Amino acid sequence: MSVGTRKIPLSSPYLDERDEELVLEVLRSGRLSLGPAIDRFERAFADKLGVPYAAAVSSGTSGLHLLAVIGGLGEGDEVITSPYSFVASANCFIYEGATPVFADVDARTMNLDPAAVEAAITPRTKGIVAVDIFGYPCELDPLRELAEKHGLVLIQDACEALGAQYRGRTVGSHGVDAVFAFYPNKQMTTGEGGIVTTRDEETYRALVSLRNQGRADGGGWLDHARLGFNYRIDDISAALGIAQVEKLDTILSLRHAAAARYGKVLAGVDRLELPLGDDADHVRSWFVYVVTLERGIDRERVIAELERQGIATSRYLPSIHLQAYMRERYGFREGLCPVSEDLSQRTLALPFYTAIDPGDQEQVADALAAALA
Ligand SMILES: Cc1ncc(COP(=O)(O)O)c(C=O)c1O
Repeated sequence: MSVGTRKIPLSSPYLDERDEELVLEVLRSGRLSLGPAIDRFERAFADKLGVPYAAAVSSGTSGLHLLAVIGGLGEGDEVITSPYSFVASANCFIYEGATPVFADVDARTMNLDPAAVEAAITPRTKGIVAVDIFGYPCELDPLRELAEKHGLVLIQDACEALGAQYRGRTVGSHGVDAVFAFYPNKQMTTGEGGIVTTRDEETYRALVSLRNQGRADGGGWLDHARLGFNYRIDDISAALGIAQVEKLDTILSLRHAAAARYGKVLAGVDRLELPLGDDADHVRSWFVYVVTLERGIDRERVIAELERQGIATSRYLPSIHLQAYMRERYGFREGLCPVSEDLSQRTLALPFYTAIDPGDQEQVADALAAALA
């Protein structure tokens, strides 16, 4: 049972009257699917990021899957990806029959280590799915060099990194096809939803067809040029997306301020490592606030103690290769990616959202300090 009556959730969407207004507009229009809100959302998002094309889809997972299809990742191919991620970054090409190869992450950035990726390349390697974990930009340039050198497809899973910057440019605008996700714990939300950004018109056209059951441009409703999916976003979600993009700068700066406040109140807490700070090449977009506990600390006890005080936490992130279905299917075991596995034992996500109350953050810091003492 919780000590206080009030709970501090792990995440919470940032919504106001403008979101309600635009959603209501769609409801009253009667155009709930394949309507104008989707085009408006895509245009607003593409302009915000400075990319020519953005294709909205039903989720981050469906966006990643479509890029795997377009990249031709399939049977007999190996795809190198990060074990320290959400499962969708590996599942997206497994759906197509490709085999996951997990390269270990860098302990500092928690993102794919390009040297480990290079070491994992074989004659069967067909692609790399790089992830910007916890909104910290991955090493895109070295990974792109490897992809070019070996003729590999490179997909950027930027689902957690909306607003992040790599080498002075917004993530999603570097010319590598990238996917963003809008589940309600993300920086901005559409309820469920995602979007793919690309500089390539042909890729954009393929995305638009594949998300809509393989229908061709200008073809009839019952004409299907290719094997497609129903990965459409609906207009209600897209309307929410428009309102969220309108206030994205505010959202990002509030989250930045919230992260800075955690940095201050947690600065004196021992036995704890705070998230990696920015540098000239990497500017994080704050998706979650994940701390790393010192080795030897009983994380379950810390979680239980915070839970008792009504503070939600999460074990972000288990290593993907050790999930039950991965062990069963591919025989992956402990020791494959030691850095990721070590992080998986010690990292902990604290309550973090756009409008988090500074007093609640202090309470989280106090509770964590007491639990670690
Ligand atoms: C790194 C990463 N990849 C992919 C996804 C999948 O997004 P969605 O939940 O919208 O399918 C998420 C979101 O949970 C994510 O964090």
